[in-house]
Amino acid sequence: MTLLLRNALCVDPSAGLAEPTLRDLLIEGLVIKRIEEPGLIEVDHAATFGDENDIEVIDLAGKTLLPGLFDMHVHLRDPGQEYKEDIYSGRRAAAKGGFTAILAMPNTNPVIDNGAQVSYVLDKAAKLGGTRVYTSGALTAGQKGESLSEMASMKKAGAVAFTDDGKGVQDSGIMRLIMEYAASIEAPILTHSQVNDLVLEGQVNEGVVSTRLGMAGWPAAGEEIMIARDIMLAELTGAALHIQHVSTAGGLQLIKAAKAKGLPVTCEVTPHHLFLDEEAIDIRYDTNLKVNPPLRTKADCDALLQGLLDGDIDCLVTDHAPHADHEKSLEFELAPFGMTGLETALSLMITRLIATETISWAQLVEVMGHTPRRILGIMPVSLAVGSQADLTIIDPQHEWQVNADKFASRSKNSPFINWQLTGKATDVLVGGAFTLKDGEIV
Ligand code: DOR
Ligand code: ZN
Repeated sequence: MTLLLRNALCVDPSAGLAEPTLRDLLIEGLVIKRIEEPGLIEVDHAATFGDENDIEVIDLAGKTLLPGLFDMHVHLRDPGQEYKEDIYSGRRAAAKGGFTAILAMPNTNPVIDNGAQVSYVLDKAAKLGGTRVYTSGALTAGQKGESLSEMASMKKAGAVAFTDDGKGVQDSGIMRLIMEYAASIEAPILTHSQVNDLVLEGQVNEGVVSTRLGMAGWPAAGEEIMIARDIMLAELTGAALHIQHVSTAGGLQLIKAAKAKGLPVTCEVTPHHLFLDEEAIDIRYDTNLKVNPPLRTKADCDALLQGLLDGDIDCLVTDHAPHADHEKSLEFELAPFGMTGLETALSLMITRLIATETISWAQLVEVMGHTPRRILGIMPVSLAVGSQADLTIIDPQHEWQVNADKFASRSKNSPFINWQLTGKATDVLVGGAFTLKDGEIV
């Protein structure tokens, strides 16, 4: 199959396209064969690369074309909670949201903590095709925080990182062992920072909103103390540390200081911690706003945005955490933490940060594509000849309203439902094949 994409505004700082630049792309099989100024690739010429009858030419005038986006924080709930999501529905939601690849979290049932579980996820994803699915494995057996998981055998089976996401590792001695082990097998570890003794039954950020609503608070210190500890342990052990969903200004300060020291520390932020603050939670007690770590203060959101602009925050991730209606319909205290994000993240970023000229497309490509792959040690994808044709094509002007009925995800727990957004992925290619075409999942 040969595909000629014409007149796309291409952005990829790694390929010398830091500014949106008009290009035609010729894709043959799995890879980009040519990338040229518009009009230089003749259809006849293109035909010589493949079967003449098997050429598709698509005019992408008005569209923006990026190297495929990567979300390194996705809960696929498979195995064990397929009523919330599974690998099939999750990879469709990813395509709909403009992602070509995702990293699955291991807090499934059973937990992904051994090689056989890793193989289960990767084999099932490979059978389905489409969105590239990578998986992480747990740091501790059963995510119980008591003993090490089978990291080496998981790595051998294809796990690209390790995390107990959803839980903080409480025991500092175990965490030190984990880091020493991870450093010896050169595996990145991703950490969910939560000190249980401080967070207790905390539901929302500890502060005015928890007081006003009479709910138990989840204090910033409950996150920051663990970030500080893990940075110190990373320095002690030499492990590469990636801090998941940082939500406080104080946590970011600690990460900045670690980076200034030259430590191998990176971090990520979610759209909800950037664009929603605790004031969104009011007497409607919308459980779709219950997330872990919780929505923080406006000042925290502002600091996180500044961190993203300054490059102190390395990645934008969704923490896509699907939950069923019957779970989210419970009282706030009983409902599970988490919101979906795969199908809204890119559009939120375009609406809030690209359309307002707060960040550039090149910055978006870094935080949603290049840097996650670099942290995980995954082969880069670029708009260059020879690169695998994993592409995200966006209509940046498209106005739409978030509609739960249109989600490809099996769950609808998004606080962004009914939001009016600008910009949407229209087409996604993985290895030269469409996973999304004209807005429809292939
Ligand atoms: O809100 C969250 N939900 N945060 C996490 O860390 C875990 C996730 C989940 O698994 O539902
Ligand atoms: Zn988490």
